[in-house]
Amino acid sequence: AYPYPPKICCLGAGYVGGPTMAVMAKMCPDIKVTVTDLNERRIAAWNSSSLPIYEPGLQEVVEEARGRNLFFSTDIDAAIQECTIIFVSVATPTKTSGIGAGEAADLTYWELAARRIAAVCNASSNMSPKIIVEKSTVPVRTADAMAAVMAASCKGTDFQVLSNPEFLAEGTAIDDLFKPDRVLVGGPVTPQGHAAVQYLADVYRRWVPTEQVLTTNLWSAELTKLTANAFLAQRISSINSISALCEATGANVSEVAYAIGVDTRIGPKFLKASVGFGGSCFQKDILNLVYLCRQFGLPEVAEYWYQVIAMNDWQKKRFAINVVSSMFNTVSGKKITILGFAFKKDTGDTRETPAIDVCKMLFAEKASLAIYDPKVAREQIYSDLGKEVIDKIEIETDPYIACSGAHAICILTEWDEFKTLDYKRIYDQMQKPAFIFDGRNLINIAECQAIGFSVWSVGQSLKPLC
Ligand code: UDX
Ligand code: UDX
Ligand code: ADP
Repeated sequence: AYPYPPKICCLGAGYVGGPTMAVMAKMCPDIKVTVTDLNERRIAAWNSSSLPIYEPGLQEVVEEARGRNLFFSTDIDAAIQECTIIFVSVATPTKTSGIGAGEAADLTYWELAARRIAAVCNASSNMSPKIIVEKSTVPVRTADAMAAVMAASCKGTDFQVLSNPEFLAEGTAIDDLFKPDRVLVGGPVTPQGHAAVQYLADVYRRWVPTEQVLTTNLWSAELTKLTANAFLAQRISSINSISALCEATGANVSEVAYAIGVDTRIGPKFLKASVGFGGSCFQKDILNLVYLCRQFGLPEVAEYWYQVIAMNDWQKKRFAINVVSSMFNTVSGKKITILGFAFKKDTGDTRETPAIDVCKMLFAEKASLAIYDPKVAREQIYSDLGKEVIDKIEIETDPYIACSGAHAICILTEWDEFKTLDYKRIYDQMQKPAFIFDGRNLINIAECQAIGFSVWSVGQSLKPLC
């Protein structure tokens, strides 16, 4: 029997752990929730008025619960000792070396977290029961490995390992957490596993309707997360592939996307053509899926999913090639302004942002870049693009200054504020001919053309630029 109400902690105070636990604490004021991290600066920021991540609505939720039943701490061991439910939400990046480099997930942080839990449990002879919950995306059967680590190194403690993947998207994390389409809890198909699953599911049932709290076996839960991200990314690569065909044929990708999306079997979401998808999950999870398929002797399945990434890489490259070829095959020495660096709007996150690839390709063509993004920190852009280019980029805090004197503008993130910029004012301060390359289908093409711009917008078939 588990204690009631549960005490909950989370190892890892990142984009997933921080907001998830903050919402849980807000929704369950009688449950003590402690969020821990190895990184002292991160915890200090969570305890301050400037949180380490930007997410609409997050500040309010944290301020309401912090100090009441939500705590941020570096004392990981004390939290493990005290709590029954221990979420593990550490990063699982793609391996950069060794077996599976470039595809397999790097589980170093995960295993270290598991061993730490085991060590704490071992230090006491009558440790209370523990439910260890995978929150970070991990390869299928990781929970099994984790249970093996625990079983081998802490014999005295009663523990269960569950999988509870998170489906929140950045920029809408708080809404997603308040009103998730579903919560998924996977666990071992044993009476003890079932009890642990129900115990965790009951926490979510306090604010999520019961029929949306799904329970499955462990591996279904783990595989669902990879599959959901692969399907979402596949839709984007599919529409992006059609965007190229639209440009060639005279069709308009927005019209095509709308017209297919009203078919309820297809649905309207995730059909926006773009410069390519980014973010910490899609590429990583698909690579992970590809690696798993290869491991299980399914090369055809691996190839099938790999195409989603290949198409995305091509879309980013195609964008940069279009810029160069439209500008008379050379951008050498020309100022090009990048509007938007984050991988999507309403976040300051730049992990796998298509802007990195596009900027690097333009650098290779010897362009000089001015970058404006309303949320991405200057140091982040430097670190993403590399020290060698510092003297080739200007990072501006005002979009009009960023565009002044430029030969071209590339819109790479769909920030709302880019829709209402005064494009006439921008045009007047640019070199002529003035180009706009819209990687997000965000500007009003007719208006910009009337001002005098040469416009290229993804998936819109337009007259040759110049
Ligand atoms: C299809 C399109 O649905 C329709 O819009 C178009 O006008 C013509 O082509 P149809 O081929 O008649 O219609 O049937 P559909 O229900 O789409 O099924 C096509 C095939 O897919 C069938 O063999 C069906 O068994 C199979 N299928 C369908 C699956 O294997 N799994 C599914 O989830 C759905
Ligand atoms: C994604 C999943 O949506 C979420 O469920 C999972 O938990 C984590 O991964 P996230 O990466 O935060 O979330 O954002 P998402 O909204 O999915 O966008 C990912 C990328 O796809 C962005 O670069 C976005 O601009 C791009 N995108 C999205 C498109 O290019 N077109 C679309 O129609 C939708
Ligand atoms: P995600 O997007 O999955 O939330 P992040 O990289 O934003 O990933 O956050 C992961 C966090 O986990 C980092 O702040 C990192 O310092 C922390 N972390 C890594 N290993 C451990 C560990 N063993 N215990 C606690 N925190 C950890």
